[in-house]
Amino acid sequence: MEKQTFAHSTFGNPAIDYNNLIQSDRIHGSLYTRPDIFEEEMQRVFYGNWVFIGHASEIPGKGDYVCRTIGRESVVMVRTAQDDIKVIVNRCSHRGNMICVHPEGSAKFLKCGYHGWVFSLDGALLDVPGPGRFRKDKSDLPLRLLRTESYRGFVFASFNPDVLPLEEYLGQATRLIDRNVEMSPIGEIRLSAGWVKHKFEGNWKMLPENDTDGYHVQFVHSSIEKVIDSDYADAITDPDEEIAARSRDWGGGHAELDFAPVYTKPLEWLGAPLSRYPDWATEMVASYGEEAGMRKLIEGPSHATIFPNLFLGEMNIVIIQPINANQCVQWHTPMLLEGVPDDLNNKFMRQSEAALGPSSLVLADDGIISERQQIALQGASSWLDLSRGDQREEVDEYGVRSGRVSDEVTNRSFWRHYRKVMSAA
Ligand code: FES
Ligand SMILES: [Fe+2]
Repeated sequence: MEKQTFAHSTFGNPAIDYNNLIQSDRIHGSLYTRPDIFEEEMQRVFYGNWVFIGHASEIPGKGDYVCRTIGRESVVMVRTAQDDIKVIVNRCSHRGNMICVHPEGSAKFLKCGYHGWVFSLDGALLDVPGPGRFRKDKSDLPLRLLRTESYRGFVFASFNPDVLPLEEYLGQATRLIDRNVEMSPIGEIRLSAGWVKHKFEGNWKMLPENDTDGYHVQFVHSSIEKVIDSDYADAITDPDEEIAARSRDWGGGHAELDFAPVYTKPLEWLGAPLSRYPDWATEMVASYGEEAGMRKLIEGPSHATIFPNLFLGEMNIVIIQPINANQCVQWHTPMLLEGVPDDLNNKFMRQSEAALGPSSLVLADDGIISERQQIALQGASSWLDLSRGDQREEVDEYGVRSGRVSDEVTNRSFWRHYRKVMSAA
C-alpha cells in the first residue's frame, strides 16, 4: 500500500504573534474568538499532533467500529480482521463520500454507499463494481490510514506520519492513565455505557482549562456542597486554601489537579465506605499487594487533562471536540472497571449522570460559565490573568512544576505548551 502523505500543511501565519498573545502570566482574549487562530489550531494542534480517539474496549470484536473526529475531520476507529486497531479517515477514495454513516457498528468490509466500492477493514480497496471499465490499480486507491498508537487501551491517532511516538508524547503523563486503569484489579477499563454529548457555545480551550481549574470550584459549584455531605466537598471548598491537594504541570500541556493528598480513608473520593465493596478491596490487594492496593483505593483516579482533547475526569472519560472558534462539543462516558462487582460499576454510572449528565450538578455549572466567558470576550481587546500562584510554584517529588490546588499552574501549563505548538517553525 502506498505510503500516506501528510496533506494538512503546518502553515504559519506571520500576522499572529503567539509569543505576544501568550505571556507567562497573561493571555490575550482574541485567542478564544479569532477564526484565523482556530484555523491554525486545526492544522497544528489537531492535525499535526496526537489526538485521543477512543478506547480499545469500545470495539471488542473484529469489524467493530466507532466514528469520531479529529478537528473537523470524521474518522473511524476500527478493529481489523487481524485484530489490530486502525483509525481511518471516513471518506471514500473515489469521490469523497462518507463511508461509515452510523456512530458505531460492526462490519466485515467498509462499503461506500455512493457507487459501491468495497474496502477491507484496514482500508485496502478490494472491489470496484464494473471492473472492466476501471483502468487504475486498486492498490493506488486505499482509504487514508492515520498513524495510530495506543497506551493501555487509550487509542490516539494523528494525520502527521512523523509525529513523536505516543509514549514520548505522553511523557510522564502516562502515570495519569496508569492511575485510572489501575483502579481495576486486573488493570483494565471498559467504555461500554455509551457517550453523552453536550454542545457548548464556547471555545474548545475553555474546557481543558476549566477541567483543571481548582480555583473556581467554591464559586461555580457551591451548590454541590449543599447537597453532598462528604469530607470531599469540604476539602474542595475550603476557603482558606489550607488543603493538601496539588495543581501540577506534567509537561507537554498535560495538567492535573491531584486530590490524593486530601484523602485519608479508602474510597473517601467515592463517597462510600470500603465495607460496601469488600470484594473490590480484596481483589486490589491480591493484585497489587497490601500497601499499593490500599493506596490506590485511598488516592482514587486521576483528575487530569491530556493535551489537547482528553480529560480523565476521575471515573469519567471526556473528549473535547472543537467545532469553530465559538463552539465545541463535550463527550463523556463513565469509566467502568473490569474485574469488579456490577454494583460498583452501577454506582459509577449513577455518579456520572449526577456529575455530567443532562440534569447534572457539575457540567451545567461549567457550561454556563464557558458560554458567558465566550460572550464577554467577543470583540474585546482584553487580557486574561494567569498569575495566581506563579511565585510559589515548586518542583515536586516527580520533578515537575506544582502548586496549591487553586493556583493557576495547570492553566499556565496548557498555554505554555499551546504557544510552543502554535509558534513552532
Ligand atoms: S464515492 Fe464512494 S464509491 Fe463513489
Ligand atoms: Fe467546574
